[in-house]
Formats: sequence, structure tokens, C-alpha cells
Amino acid sequence: MPDETSLWRSLLALRQEKGARLPLELPPGAGAGEAALLELYLPFAERRRPYAVAHLGQSLDGRIATAAGASHWVTGEEDLLHTHRMRALADAILVGAGTVRHDDPQLTVRRCSGDHPVRVVIDCERRLGPDYRVFQDGAAPTLVLAAIDHVRPGERLGAAEIVPLPRAADGGLAAHDIRAALSSRGLDFLFVEGGGVTVSRFLVAGALDRLQLTVAPIILGSGRPSLSLPEIGEPHQGMRPRLRRFVLGEDVLFECIFHD
Ligand SMILES: NC(=O)c1ccc[n+]([C@@H]2O[C@H](COP(=O)([O-])OP(=O)(O)OC[C@H]3O[C@@H](n4cnc5c(N)ncnc54)[C@H](OP(=O)(O)O)[C@@H]3O)[C@@H](O)[C@H]2O)c1
Repeated sequence: MPDETSLWRSLLALRQEKGARLPLELPPGAGAGEAALLELYLPFAERRRPYAVAHLGQSLDGRIATAAGASHWVTGEEDLLHTHRMRALADAILVGAGTVRHDDPQLTVRRCSGDHPVRVVIDCERRLGPDYRVFQDGAAPTLVLAAIDHVRPGERLGAAEIVPLPRAADGGLAAHDIRAALSSRGLDFLFVEGGGVTVSRFLVAGALDRLQLTVAPIILGSGRPSLSLPEIGEPHQGMRPRLRRFVLGEDVLFECIFHD
């Protein structure tokens, strides 16, 4: 019977097409932990076409950080492990400039086994300096996506490559252009890890296949919003996607499925 660690290794091997054969149904007596692991991650381990999944960890009142930008930690240990597992399954992990500015994250896989994904930062206006860890530590290839009018040929930011993209009509970068640019580099499975502005832009553009919102039992009462979408007139105009639900310690992960 597979334990959680060997099952996770099998999921990684399946993702990397290393010939892993998984029991699609766990044998009788398998633990609830193994069953949940398989159920949550098998759709991503089996993924063979371009796919984008976003994640945000939020409070009961829909905040991802305090007003000053502190987000360590809104959600608990199990959600942190979950984000590292999603990183390990993804080809690329993407965050907005605000997240780099506030968190100086490493965006590597440290809480589980697996390879680091390529790290991607959206900094359309080139406001970030070279001193952040993702641009300096050399832990994984790193791309900065910027508006074409802000990029000189061959320019780098620390160790990161700067990828020029055209501006969309609103002056920013279009989510579909981002996905196409990453796919052209073989980065087909994209994990968008925040923050709220970045994930909202992908969602509004219809550029997400799944959205994972982990809700922690805490009320912040103020702070940076999770999703911010255009106004609607009536509640029935809200999105009502198909859902999967997983309990992660004290938190609950709601996974919205837009495309299988
Ligand atoms: N709880 C969680 O799950 C979680 C996850 C990640 C981050 N966080 C927290 O969230 C906060 C940051 O989130 P945030 O929503 O404020 O910012 P963010 O989404 O990290 O970054 C937003 C910024 O990135 C740039 N950007 C993103 N998408 C763009 C696009 N399509 N086109 C052009 N520019 C684009 C813009 O930069 P410019 O305005 O500079 O042009 C935009 O203002 C931090 O406090 C962080 O700690 C929480």
C-alpha cells in the first residue's frame, strides 16, 4: 500500500512522464490522507496540455494580507505545503510585482520533494530593482515579464531574463499573451500564486482553468483584497463554477473548475 511520501513521488513521476503507474483506485484500507492526496493532485499530475491554476490564501472576509502587506501566514501549514506541491507539479510559478515587493519570496519547492519551477514575475513598468531573492539566488531560471517599451535587447535584472511583451489596450500585459509567451518556452502548466491583483486579471481575462481559494478561519477586517472583479448588478450574475472542496487542517480549499 503506498504511503503519502511514495504516493507523492509517484504523482511527480507521472507528471514528468517517467512511466509511473498509479493505482487509480486506492486499495481498501488506504488512509484518508493518501486518498485525499491522490484526489487533489492526480488531475494535475496527469495534465498533458497547457493549463493554468491560480491560488490565493484568504481570510473569511476575503483578505490575503494586512493593509501594510503582511501575509505570513493567513492560511496554515497544510496550505503552505499545498502551494509547494503545486509549485513542484507546475512548469512555471508566476507572481505579480506587489508580491515580490512585499514578500521577497523564493518561489522554490522546499516543503516537499520535486523540482523548482521556472519563476515568473510580472513587472510591466519595471518598478522592481535587482536585489530581490528571485533575481539573485540563482535557485531556478527566472523571467521578468515587462512592457516592450521598457526593455532593452538582452537586458537582465540580476540573474533574471527580461521578456518583452506588447501592452494590452489597458496598458498592462494581457493574461493570454503571458500564457502564450510561456507556452512558447515549453512552460505549459502555469501556477499563478498571487497576489490578488494578478489573479484577478487572469480570472477576468478567462485565462484560468482552475482557481484555488483556501479560506482560513480568521477575520482580518481590513487589508489587501483577494479577488477584485468588475461590478455586477445582481447576485445571480456572479460566477458559480463547479467546485471541489478539501480540508487543509483548519482551512478549507475551494477549487473552482472552469475547464477540465
Ligand atoms: N495570501 C496569499 O495567498 C498571497 C499570495 C501572494 C501575495 N500575497 C500578498 O498580497 C500582496 C500583494 O498582492 P497585490 O494584489 O497587492 O499585488 P500582486 O498581484 O502581487 O502584484 C500586482 C502588481 O503586479 C503588476 N501586474 C500584475 N499583473 C499585471 C498585468 N497583467 N499587467 C501589468 N501589470 C501587472 C502590477 O504592478 P505595477 O502596479 O507595479 O505596475 C500590479 O500592480 C502582498 O502583501 C503579499 O504579501 C498574499
